[in-house]
Amino acid sequence: MRLAARTSWWLLPALAALAACEQAPAPPQAARDVGQPAGWADELAMPVPQDLNPDPDVLEIEIEARIADVELVPGFKTPAWTYNGGVPGPMIHGKIGDRLIVHFRNSLPEPTTIHWHGLRIPNDMDGAPGVTQQPIATGGEFRYEFELRDAGTYWYHPHTDSSAQVGRGLYGAILVEDPADPAAFGDDLVLLLSDMGLNERGELLPADSGGNFGDLFGREGAVLLVNGKVRPTLKVRAGKQQRWRIINATRARYYNIRLRNHRFMRLGGDNGLAARAEDVYNLIVTPGERADAVFTPADAPGTTNVLRWVPTERGYGSTFNRASEPMLDIETVADAPVTPEPIPVELRAIEPLDVTTARQRSIDLTIAITSTVEMGINGVPYWKAKPLEIALGDTEVWRIVNNTDFSHPFHLHGYFFQVLDEARTLEWKDTVNVPTKSELTIAVRFDERPGAWMYHCHILDHAEVGMMGHLVVRDPAAPQPAAPLTSSGPHHH
Ligand code: C2O
Ligand code: CU
Repeated sequence: MRLAARTSWWLLPALAALAACEQAPAPPQAARDVGQPAGWADELAMPVPQDLNPDPDVLEIEIEARIADVELVPGFKTPAWTYNGGVPGPMIHGKIGDRLIVHFRNSLPEPTTIHWHGLRIPNDMDGAPGVTQQPIATGGEFRYEFELRDAGTYWYHPHTDSSAQVGRGLYGAILVEDPADPAAFGDDLVLLLSDMGLNERGELLPADSGGNFGDLFGREGAVLLVNGKVRPTLKVRAGKQQRWRIINATRARYYNIRLRNHRFMRLGGDNGLAARAEDVYNLIVTPGERADAVFTPADAPGTTNVLRWVPTERGYGSTFNRASEPMLDIETVADAPVTPEPIPVELRAIEPLDVTTARQRSIDLTIAITSTVEMGINGVPYWKAKPLEIALGDTEVWRIVNNTDFSHPFHLHGYFFQVLDEARTLEWKDTVNVPTKSELTIAVRFDERPGAWMYHCHILDHAEVGMMGHLVVRDPAAPQPAAPLTSSGPHHH
């Protein structure tokens, strides 16, 4: 195991003093020998659902989607759309191999479904309305049940009228742990980032605010939330590592996570560990994406630093005349610094997909502006699109082309992919940013779970106006699957 050596600047005076003095002060403690500061993540706590099943390997919970008053803007109540009455919804926390059972009830005034973003689950559990299940009507119920097969950071959200429903507060975090991960990564902390379009009185702006421009640019809410809170405080101890699991649950906002005086050790992103750890200055997390990184507090004890949202390039006008905004206060407690644990560099053996016989496809992300904004894949909005036909077991290479003026985070349901780019660390992903005026290629192996699966831009306003399609993976040895449920398609156009 190779170890990444990191010099901690705040240790240097202590070491110099150690060398100079007869009366040597006690050497710093090791990070492994101390805990996080008392109440370190209290302000970031997310609701924990009640587990109805005594089996330690089964997490059986109830989730009800309903409107509830939530205080986001201090002193005001927002009639948010919630899972179990809170924004965000309950955090689903399991380990590899656990079975998750969700008794879901829709008490919203509109139909909905839950999509389990990034999880490799059976097709009929995927929550794609009109494709894998009928939308769940007001008062309706649905039982979701599947295995948590892969360690990683995931999330769940509706897949009906998704920009509006996610924008009103419907999302929750999923953390699937691998008990074999080294403790040196530090204590897990999920940071679920979202924004809400609220006015000063905490009232929700209409889902179509901004009209065509809102569709074109993607709607960013003015109120930034971390785990449902406006500018909460996280307590850290110098040198004591934390493993941040960052989830971008916004409709359209990009995050460039960086903190003055710090670097991150990036472990991976969407679907568990990458092949190697990377020492990075910043983490770009686009809508739908996740980042998994070790944070080593390096500020002087007794000081506070601020993690800010900084304007992040995502195409036309996206950073123009915008200021950074505070998101999270990071308070370094007064306790003496500790020596961080070394982080292994080699994290996981990942085989590059064999693409020698792969079918090539071109996926062109397109925007047509007439009296309205209509987006599409290869010029076709999803309500007119025919599914891609794929044979079970095939590997495909998709060239994703973006000639538009905006960047698009491309998301595929059901399967992990690899980005074919020598410059990137090898990892499994389900969402990847395709910057404006660029292209990239991904490889996917449709190795199991035949059925119909969606792919789309995860700027949810873009998906809703057409930048979405679906594919059908067919098992040639099995009878044809039933035709997709088209009686009530995913759209409302
Ligand atoms: Cu997170 Cu089809 O979406
Ligand atoms: Cu887009």
